[in-house]
Amino acid sequence: MSEILVATGLHAGYGLSTVLEGISVALRPGHICAILGRNGVGKTTLIRTLCGHCRVREGSVRLAGEDVTNLAPHLMATRSVGLVPQGRRLFRSLSVREHLTVGARHAAAGAHGWTAERVLDTFPALRGRLSNLGGMLSGGEQSMVAIGRALVGNPRVLLLDEPSEGLSPALVKQVGDVLQMLRDDGIAILLVEQNFGLALRLADTVHIMSKGRIVHSGSADELQLRAGDQGTVPGDLRRAGMPASRGVDCAAGQENRPPEARRRDTRFVR
Ligand SMILES: Nc1ncnc2c1ncn2[C@@H]1O[C@H](COP(=O)(O)OP(=O)(O)OP(=O)(O)O)[C@@H](O)[C@H]1O
Ligand SMILES: [Mg+2]
Repeated sequence: MSEILVATGLHAGYGLSTVLEGISVALRPGHICAILGRNGVGKTTLIRTLCGHCRVREGSVRLAGEDVTNLAPHLMATRSVGLVPQGRRLFRSLSVREHLTVGARHAAAGAHGWTAERVLDTFPALRGRLSNLGGMLSGGEQSMVAIGRALVGNPRVLLLDEPSEGLSPALVKQVGDVLQMLRDDGIAILLVEQNFGLALRLADTVHIMSKGRIVHSGSADELQLRAGDQGTVPGDLRRAGMPASRGVDCAAGQENRPPEARRRDTRFVR
C-alpha cells in the first residue's frame, strides 16, 4: 500500500541549535517503522516535528497527499495522527476515564472505530482503574492509558516515543503484542525505541539515527541477519548507537539499559 505520511529533508531544532539535519521518513498503513539511536540524537525531536509540536525549518511533511508542514498539533490530531509521547505525559489530576474522554476530543471519524470500550477490551487491567487519577497509576498502567488516549482519536498514523521505557518484561511483551495488532489493523506506526530486541521483533523497516541524521536504513530482517546467531551487534551499528547486546529476547531489553536511563523512566506526568 502507498505511503500515508512522508517527511522529506526535515530540519528542526530549538532556538539557535539545529537538531534534525535533513531527516526523511515514510510511513505505510499496516507497517511499523522503527527509529533507533542513542540518547540525545533527536528521536523525540523528530516525533515532535512530525506532529506539529516542533517547527519545521526546512523540508516538508505530507499526510495522505496533503501538505501538513507546520500544521498545529490539534489539527494533526483531527487528521488522524496519534501521539504516545515519551514519558507518557499523563495528567496527574485526571482519571483514566477522563484521559480517554480527552483523547477522543479531536477524534477523526476514522475507519478504525476506536472507543473507550474497545481500549478497555484491549487493556482489561484498566477496567478496575477508571476512576484512578494519573498520579495513582503504575508505570504499566500509565503506558496503557497513554496508548489508549491516542487510540480513541482513531489514528491512521500512530507515533510512539519509547513506549517500552521503564516497563517490566511482561509489559514490554504486552505493548509489543498490541502494536502488532494495530499494525495488522492497518495503522501506520512510527516506533521510537531504545529496546533493540523489541524494535527488531516488531518493525518492518528500521532507521538508525545519529546526530540528527539517519545513518542506516534497512529491513528488520536484514539487521537480524547482520546481528547473527550470537545476538551481537556489528561494530558499525554499535557506533551508530546500538547497545552492544541486542537482547535476543525482546522482553529482556530493559535489563540492557543503563541504570540512569531506567531511573529516568520513573519520571512522571505533568
Ligand atoms: N525543549 C528543548 N530545548 C532545547 N533543546 C532541546 C529541547 N529538547 C531537546 N533538546 C536537545 O535536542 C537534542 C535532541 O533531543 P531529543 O530529546 O530529541 O533526543 P532523543 O534522541 O529523543 O533522546 P532520548 O533518547 O534521551 O529521549 C538534545 O541535545 C537535547 O538536549
Ligand atoms: Mg527522546
